[in-house]
Amino acid sequence: MSRSRLIIAIDGPAASGKSTTARLVAERLGYVYIDTGAMYRALTYAALRAGVDPGDQVRMERLADECVIELHLDDERRLRVFLNGRDVSGDIRTPEVTANVSMVSAYAGVRRRLVELQRNIGAGGGIVMDGRDIGTVVFPDADVKIFMVADIRARAERRKAELHTLGNDVTLTGLALQLEERDRLDSTRDVSPLRKADDAVEIDTSSLSIEEQVERVVGLALERAGE
Ligand code: DC
Repeated sequence: MSRSRLIIAIDGPAASGKSTTARLVAERLGYVYIDTGAMYRALTYAALRAGVDPGDQVRMERLADECVIELHLDDERRLRVFLNGRDVSGDIRTPEVTANVSMVSAYAGVRRRLVELQRNIGAGGGIVMDGRDIGTVVFPDADVKIFMVADIRARAERRKAELHTLGNDVTLTGLALQLEERDRLDSTRDVSPLRKADDAVEIDTSSLSIEEQVERVVGLALERAGE
């Protein structure tokens, strides 16, 4: 059966190139890009702002039920993240949020709530969703599944360039350690750990340009749409 409005799932470790690729693939195909990491970040930010301890699972799961997290495109088609009606797109990228988000995303009740939201947003297809468990848990029947990897040096360099534009200066070694620690937490948690789906296509982006990454995913999508 052919489908014109596909579900494209892109998973992989931190800073492997998922979000840039996902955003550009969505643009090329006229699809909607959904950054699920931003949702876990918004909840983490909500806790820090409200003085809730991110280590308190019961309170975090309650907060997940109470918060309204939404994703919208702005006039320039950039994804913006809203928490209870307020644009928090910048606030969710701080080092404090990054340092706590893996712990928050490991809670079963938090994942239940956000996965439900992600399924509602993506159910109609025409989406490119990136995260850690999209091809394994959120949309196990996704039409295209990508698992993006890159060596640690390439990932740390990319993250450094990103943070630099945000005005945060950190060393490459420090960043590499942070990325490795986050990957360790994300892939060893009990609930929906980061792992490659059996039927996902692995793309190593260490020495690929962004255009090449986008081409590969778009190529797979067009192939699939034409089946
Ligand atoms: O993609 P990111 O680095 O912004 O994601 C932040 C964290 O959120 C990541 O360390 C793990 C968690 N996450 C998750 O558990 N499941 C997802 N689908 C997306 C992100």
